[in-house]
Amino acid sequence: MSGRVLLSVLMGTALVPFASAHVALWHPSMWGFNVTDQTFSYDNRPVAPLMQMPFSQWWFHNHLSYPPNAGDFFELPAGGTATAELACDKGATSYWPSSQGGDVRQGDSPCPNSPTSAYHTNGIDDLKGCSLAITYKSDPNDVQPEDLAVFSVNQTCVWTRFTDFQIPAEMPACPEGGCICTWNWIHSPDSGSAQMFLTPFRCKVTGATSSKAIMTPQLARRCGADPANGVTEATPSNCTVGAKQALYWWQTERVNMFEGQYSPPFYNDLYDFKDGAQNDIFGDSDVAAAAPSSSSQKAATTSSAQAATAASSTAVADNQNETVVETSTSSSPAAASTTATTTSPKKCKRNAKKGLTESKRSVKKEATEKRSNTAHHARNLGRFVHDSTVH
Ligand SMILES: *[C@@H]1O[C@H](CO)[C@@H](O)[C@H](O)[C@H]1NC(C)=O
Ligand SMILES: *[C@@H]1O[C@H](CO)[C@@H](O)[C@H](O)[C@H]1NC(C)=O
Ligand SMILES: *[C@@H]1O[C@H](CO)[C@@H](O)[C@H](O)[C@H]1NC(C)=O
Ligand SMILES: *[C@@H]1O[C@H](CO)[C@@H](O)[C@H](O)[C@H]1NC(C)=O
Repeated sequence: MSGRVLLSVLMGTALVPFASAHVALWHPSMWGFNVTDQTFSYDNRPVAPLMQMPFSQWWFHNHLSYPPNAGDFFELPAGGTATAELACDKGATSYWPSSQGGDVRQGDSPCPNSPTSAYHTNGIDDLKGCSLAITYKSDPNDVQPEDLAVFSVNQTCVWTRFTDFQIPAEMPACPEGGCICTWNWIHSPDSGSAQMFLTPFRCKVTGATSSKAIMTPQLARRCGADPANGVTEATPSNCTVGAKQALYWWQTERVNMFEGQYSPPFYNDLYDFKDGAQNDIFGDSDVAAAAPSSSSQKAATTSSAQAATAASSTAVADNQNETVVETSTSSSPAAASTTATTTSPKKCKRNAKKGLTESKRSVKKEATEKRSNTAHHARNLGRFVHDSTVH
């Protein structure tokens, strides 16, 4: 171990494993903040992609035993902007002092000295978006994948290290122990293998003025134009109305998306994840009123986060071949009208067979951002809250 550290020091940044680079959201509030490629019997760094893994291995990135320090939260200012740092290595972020290879930061680059393929894109026109999702539970052992509702999307992610997420103005305050959030990303199929990325972290809404609870999140349905897969027109009537679950894809257990290898689900218009704050996720009941149902759910759920069966009102797929029918107990008419069905295995296979068309993908959106926004983002940093009262 110490030999390795010494070698790292001697060789400086040379050891930073960017060659097979992938991306994580880095923040002291995350699970697995100090996990290295040596911590597990396999490379389970936070940046390691999740592919064809059993539930125990992909859920919380298998980092449940590596929680953040007490009192560390990522702040979500209601109606404001939260700036996250996305990078191939902790050394490329503000948190480099606790990284293996030291300071390798390079401005706004998520993967210093690397081609864009390091963050799985062929260019700015090939970005597919990432999201933040939240559950108003504080105990990770009470959380199920189906609890996580997407509340913010950045469709031009991953392109810069500092990535802004707009926070809905109506986000209610979290319980005393904070909320649990995830950063979620599925990249374009033309720049890397089929896989998903997930970083769990503790979060907290600040400046909340509303108490309306987020609806029980439903399965997101494919409803946008998809020229790469031969679908030229969007089908708005197929979109899921209201809060949507994060997308769990290409694992061997507990996925909620059954799309094929070359037609992944994305956090963009394809699944009606609008760029920015998801303002349509709030129901009619308020957080206090929702509490009894969530505590009965808590009581009915086993203490293990790995329990294969969720005791929530949401139907859960135990394996990839199961067709899921969602039932919602939400009193919101919008939520009640969204009865989601997932892709059948047959359709799944059909999609997989279609494969990638060679034709250029049409670009829905003009890329407007500048990459040299570092100064602005630097001002927005420091959303790392340290609540000394917790110690
Ligand atoms: C990570 O490592 C740093 C430096 O060793 C330490 O200060 C910090 O408490 C650690 N964080 C966690 C969550 O273990
Ligand atoms: C996505 O992040 C980039 C980089 O921080 C930012 O310029 C852009 O405004 C963000 N998009 C949204 C919708 O917040
Ligand atoms: C509607 O959504 C389902 C689930 O994502 C998908 O399988 C189906 O292809 C979609 N239909 C259309 C017309 O887009
Ligand atoms: C479905 O089940 C079969 C047999 O158990 C398995 O080989 C396959 O990987 C599963 N998943 C899909 C998406 O077909």
